[in-house]
Amino acid sequence: MSTRWVGTSWKMHKTIAESVVYARGLVSALRDRPERYAGVQPFVIPSHTALAAVHHVLGPAAERPCSLLLGAQDAHWEDAGAWTGEVSVPQVADAGAQLIEIGHSERREHFAESIERTGWKVRAAVRHGVRPLLCVGEPDAVQLAGDSAGHVLEQAAGALDGLSQDELGSVLIAYEPVWAIGEHGRTPLNSEIEAPLQALQSAFGGRVQAVLYGGSVNAGNAADLLALDAVDGLFVGRAAWELSGYLELLHLASD
Ligand code: PGA
Repeated sequence: MSTRWVGTSWKMHKTIAESVVYARGLVSALRDRPERYAGVQPFVIPSHTALAAVHHVLGPAAERPCSLLLGAQDAHWEDAGAWTGEVSVPQVADAGAQLIEIGHSERREHFAESIERTGWKVRAAVRHGVRPLLCVGEPDAVQLAGDSAGHVLEQAAGALDGLSQDELGSVLIAYEPVWAIGEHGRTPLNSEIEAPLQALQSAFGGRVQAVLYGGSVNAGNAADLLALDAVDGLFVGRAAWELSGYLELLHLASD
């Protein structure tokens, strides 16, 4: 079985101290019982404010259990400049990020994240050797209209256009239907997400690192989601904000 990617973004949650406690617990759980998490590639994405502290806890990448990766929730497309309030890819990389989440639906909805901007950010990440985690997903109305696959293909193709095969090889795609995300999200039926996932796999499978599913993932549906051929891993919010929940999901995804 190929490696299953299972990661969590903490969104705008957790203080530095809370992030450090989580990270310490995660490292020791993975280190103490590596066999329990065999075949899983974990990653955690704290707030920008906690990145450096979590990095400190995780230590050098080569020495981490399960090759645990650290990510940032966003970064600007320019390396530096007059962009008050923003952080750049070199800055988050300096704080320890090896991966950058790009185009989450909350950013597309509230922060004018267009397909064009996600493309600029993907390029900035690739330029600095940081792995892009591109999130795509259709809103409710698009799903009702039956165009989920077309919508996510347009988002993915628009952001990844022009990347070389080598560059594409570092990319993760997370398919996250907007209607399934967050506390008002609806848990999907596998039949609702198969077509867009398969469309992404047909267009990018084997060329990108992995295609993940995200949106209302929990311990009750993780196994069913992972059983889908088109799912290479899971991207999780609420169900992984407590360390015990994340560890349970990592275990469910293990060999
Ligand atoms: P959720 O969030 O798991 O809490 O639905 C998923 C996401 O936003 O990536």
